Amino acid sequence: MPASAGIIPRAMRRIKIGVLGSGKGSNFRSILSEIQAGRLSAEPVLVASDVAGAGILAIAREAGVPTYEIQEPQFRTKLTPDVEQALVEALLQAGTELVVLAGYMRVVKAPLLEAFPRRIINIHPSLLPAFPGISAWKQAVEACVSESGCTVHFVDAGIDTGKIIAQTHISVLPSDSPESLHERIQEAEHILYPAVVKRFADGELP
Ligand code: GRF
Repeated sequence: MPASAGIIPRAMRRIKIGVLGSGKGSNFRSILSEIQAGRLSAEPVLVASDVAGAGILAIAREAGVPTYEIQEPQFRTKLTPDVEQALVEALLQAGTELVVLAGYMRVVKAPLLEAFPRRIINIHPSLLPAFPGISAWKQAVEACVSESGCTVHFVDAGIDTGKIIAQTHISVLPSDSPESLHERIQEAEHILYPAVVKRFADGELP
């Protein structure tokens, strides 16, 4: 059926992504760059952060993407249910189809998980299931492994336990410090994450 019949070909549909991050936002920037270059058919409809002044918010503002500042009065590692519910409302109101965690440092709880079943993804700087949790690059260097990398996975109620979607392997060099390894892992992340979002945009992932 021709496009003029009113049906947008799947490849031309722009998947609406809501992005959550707590840090500098380099992964969000890599996704944005692919969108701006016309290689990724996605639209960031909201960028939310629990850290006032986080780099990810500045990147969003510069790109004209709506932002949302999460105000959590009580916890450091999760959100209180009503704060998370308000975030859900904002994501839904913006039309979010896929929630993309890009350096979001809190555990996702029931309000988000129930609102976006199998529609929340995360990027983690290790070859999961190895080295879940914080500073995974440091854990890898301290464990003297010869290989690490990054993983994109669906988010479930656990910490970095959801079903794995894609991974990139990176050699750990004898000379690596945690910082040098993290730098190379991030370079890989910036290729892997936009590629996985593209698989959702292209309808290859449910
Ligand atoms: C990345 O290393 C990612 O794997 C982890 O948090 C970091 C976020 O970095 N979940 P950035 O804010 O995208 O630069």
